[in-house]
Amino acid sequence: MLRPLQDHPAFSSPNLMVGVETLDDAGVYRLPDGRVLIQTVDFFTPVVDDPRAWGAIAAANALSDVYAMGGTPLTALQLMCWPSQDLSLQMLGEVASGGADKMAQAGCTVVGGHTIDDPEPKYGFAVTGTASAEEIVTNSGARPGDRLVLTKPLGTGIITTAVKADQCPPGVLAAAVEQMSALNAAAGRAMVSVGVSAATDVTGYGLAGHLLSMLRASGAAALVDTARVPILRGAAELLAAGHYPGGSLRNLQAAEPRLRGGDPTSRRLVCDAQTSGGLLISVPSARVEELESRLEEEGVSAAVIGEVIDAEPAIELR
Ligand code: CO
Ligand code: CO
Repeated sequence: MLRPLQDHPAFSSPNLMVGVETLDDAGVYRLPDGRVLIQTVDFFTPVVDDPRAWGAIAAANALSDVYAMGGTPLTALQLMCWPSQDLSLQMLGEVASGGADKMAQAGCTVVGGHTIDDPEPKYGFAVTGTASAEEIVTNSGARPGDRLVLTKPLGTGIITTAVKADQCPPGVLAAAVEQMSALNAAAGRAMVSVGVSAATDVTGYGLAGHLLSMLRASGAAALVDTARVPILRGAAELLAAGHYPGGSLRNLQAAEPRLRGGDPTSRRLVCDAQTSGGLLISVPSARVEELESRLEEEGVSAAVIGEVIDAEPAIELR
């Protein structure tokens, strides 16, 4: 995280519209023609055993930060760390082709990249997108009265942790992989066409962590109706059986001072670290139905999970 350097001259420019200070998903830089560049980078260690699926998930996840800001991805650079002594180059090729297929689906051109030898494999992309300056959606515009919409179910951290313990039913994993590989492109298009207050994507800090970042940046609080928060099939059972990632536990500890209400299970679910999760959108209540129908037209199953209220940044679970 670049935050400690935010006062350094390298981190400021008259053209920088979104920098590191709001912990937003990506940086936004104004170009002379009134358009903006949206830039982001994301890479991680394997989340599933299938190399092709890992590649696709890493690509969908890296693209997601551009979609969360209302942008369209243009180009990408691939980042690959590979233990060439231990794993075959054929497997590396499968990871890369999973990623390339996903980039092609997004209409994003891979223009290059860099590979190094590393005992622990890692894969991802730096993605550059664009948008008009007026269309940019940040995490700082949520306003009291807004409704909160989530476009993918939670539970991928719990499910991938159960997979590592060899305790995950194959059907449950397959549905999670499908969700993690799904692009947030359609959700991004829908929100831009409707006009929303704020958005972010839900990834490593879980729903609660990313919502709290949005609330801090916006100066507001949220009520979340836990019964309406979508959960992947099988995740609740695996959580009850004791599968919960260390990262999610750290999220829970970090969120705890600003997380009120809710039973222990729902508190854990909203803090579960997601890989390539959905968009969390704050939309004025007058436009929430339009957003819902636009998302439905785009084939995105979304849920209205709560609302923004006027209070110190915190989340109340109901
Ligand atoms: Co993000
Ligand atoms: Co990111």
